Amino acid sequence: MKIEVPKSKASRLVNPGEVILVSSAYKDKSNIITLAWHMPISKDPALLGIAVAKSHFSYELIKESEEFIINIPGFDILKEVIFCGSTTGRKADKFKESNLSAAKAERLIKTPVIKECLGHIECSLSDVKDIGDHGLFIGEVIYAAAEKDLFGEAWHIDKAKLIFHFGGALFTTNAEKIDIS
Ligand SMILES: Cc1cc2nc3c(=O)[nH]c(=O)nc-3n(C[C@H](O)[C@H](O)[C@H](O)COP(=O)(O)O)c2cc1C
Repeated sequence: MKIEVPKSKASRLVNPGEVILVSSAYKDKSNIITLAWHMPISKDPALLGIAVAKSHFSYELIKESEEFIINIPGFDILKEVIFCGSTTGRKADKFKESNLSAAKAERLIKTPVIKECLGHIECSLSDVKDIGDHGLFIGEVIYAAAEKDLFGEAWHIDKAKLIFHFGGALFTTNAEKIDIS
């Protein structure tokens, strides 16, 4: 027997991709937003999509600066992830008020990476489509890097503990490794 899931909750059936922190910057403002909604879109060119609500400060910054950085947090900084996902950059400088620090990106000039994260994907804005109440920002990957000990062909899931969000206050992290090769 299956129960009907309300349309408003249907995305939670497929939600668990790792949670990301997206950094953005425009003029003298830099910001961090927590996102669970994101996806790979194309291999060549390498394109990724992130869904940012039109009402969020990050939506404005990314639209203006035409770039963003996807930072991958480890489970150890869940507290900061919740903070960046529940405070707007319109009212707080999240770099100053969290334990997260801005560091120079490898290729992008304006937007900083978040030093405490395990990996980073620097993206230049390729396209943006307003869809419903969110903007789908499509980023072309300019440069990506990850902690040497934690990433090889993929995340070493026995070492890199990522954050997965099921919706609301429900989170998990990866447990055992299953290799089917
Ligand atoms: C775990 C988690 C996942 C979230 N995922 C998204 C998301 O995919 N898209 C979105 O627009 N907001 C998402 N949010 C909400 C924003 O992170 C939050 O509203 C944030 O404060 C907006 O910041 P800003 O106004 O500084 O851009 C999420 C929040 C949390 C805690």
